[in-house]
Amino acid sequence: MAEKSVSTDSLAMEAAKEYKGRKFRVAIVGCGGVAQMHMTALRQLPEVEVVAGVDIRADRITAFQETWGVTKLYKDWKKMLKEVEPDGVSVCTPNGVHAAPSIDAAKAGCHVICEKPMAMNPAECERMIAASKKAGRKFTIGFQYRYHPNTQFLKRARDHGEFGDIMFVKCQALRRRGIPNWGVFGQKKLQGGGPMIDIGVHVLEMAHYFMGSPKPIAASGNVWTYMGNKPSKVVSHWPNWDYKTYTVEDLAIGQIRFTNGALLQIEASFVAHIEKDVWNFSFLGTKGGGQWDPPMVFSDHHDTMLNTSPYYVGSQSGFQELFVLKLRNWVDGCMKNALLEAPGEAGLAVQKMLDGVYRSATAGREVTIR
Ligand SMILES: NC(=O)c1ccc[n+]([C@@H]2O[C@H](COP(=O)([O-])OP(=O)(O)OC[C@H]3O[C@@H](n4cnc5c(N)ncnc54)[C@H](O)[C@@H]3O)[C@@H](O)[C@H]2O)c1
Repeated sequence: MAEKSVSTDSLAMEAAKEYKGRKFRVAIVGCGGVAQMHMTALRQLPEVEVVAGVDIRADRITAFQETWGVTKLYKDWKKMLKEVEPDGVSVCTPNGVHAAPSIDAAKAGCHVICEKPMAMNPAECERMIAASKKAGRKFTIGFQYRYHPNTQFLKRARDHGEFGDIMFVKCQALRRRGIPNWGVFGQKKLQGGGPMIDIGVHVLEMAHYFMGSPKPIAASGNVWTYMGNKPSKVVSHWPNWDYKTYTVEDLAIGQIRFTNGALLQIEASFVAHIEKDVWNFSFLGTKGGGQWDPPMVFSDHHDTMLNTSPYYVGSQSGFQELFVLKLRNWVDGCMKNALLEAPGEAGLAVQKMLDGVYRSATAGREVTIR
């Protein structure tokens, strides 16, 4: 992964010179749930110093200061950018507030890591990429599942031709009962959608990365809302979501066509009537197939059909460990010009697929992805 691809070219030397003898100064925009995971990860990177936090909620600001000892706190990221002049900005706000701070941070000369999904729609993603490119700064999207050892194992096998051409991939992000009961995850205006854009995006990003990032050209799908917008007495781990403001789907099923002929199916739900939660992708190739969890390869060798499981793929598979890997990749990208595993273009491709499924559901037919 990234560490191996640290470039020794002139850009790398330039980047190293910029940060010589000092720390990489990061500001967090949005000090809620996921920001705590960013902080925990960033504290494990000795070359990083978190210098400021921004949130519109006073209680979040106070908690951020008390927990992490960060003293420069703001309600407005524009003011923070002007006064603090950080090197990098981590955008941890709700989906509808991803594009604006990312673009403003790039314009202020900052590198950016933005949480998933990249934005509300592909047009916003394009503006975010353009702003970073114009500023000559790095932009990465917080897709941590591509760093997971299972994904890396399957990607290595695919790169070595183990599966031949990948024809079909089935992605599943299905919760039996798991509507977020915090934040604004049920509000379409602020999130862009429900389980498809919130959790489907995770499995979609790792599967698309595994496939070698083929270009999506068409989408077909449907979405249904049948539970989230009603009160429920059912006992569950995540009770009492805000059903009164719930305007997103409960279940989304979509199919994506790619220019190379491959087809991908995505199934995402907060409330699926299934035996237990599923978080997985499986695939069929011309020479072999496989699955992500548990990682397995199904192929033919020595005139024999083999089902193969790796003995060891790596240990950094915990949720928090994946955050360390993704932030490490971003910081290495900024400070050493290392290859970014999740550049803006990856975020845009995933956003086009999500957007295609939602557009198709509205149109009631297959739609083109451009
Ligand atoms: N990568 C992952 O696994 C993962 C996990 C959880 C959340 N996320 C993503 O992170 C983002 C935030 O999710 P969360 O669970 O932390 O939500 P959250 O509601 O806990 O936190 C978001 C914070 O942003 C603040 N905020 C809103 N508007 C703002 C503005 N204009 N300026 C400054 N602050 C503002 C809110 O007050 C809140 O404190 C979402 O996009 C979500 O999809 C990613």
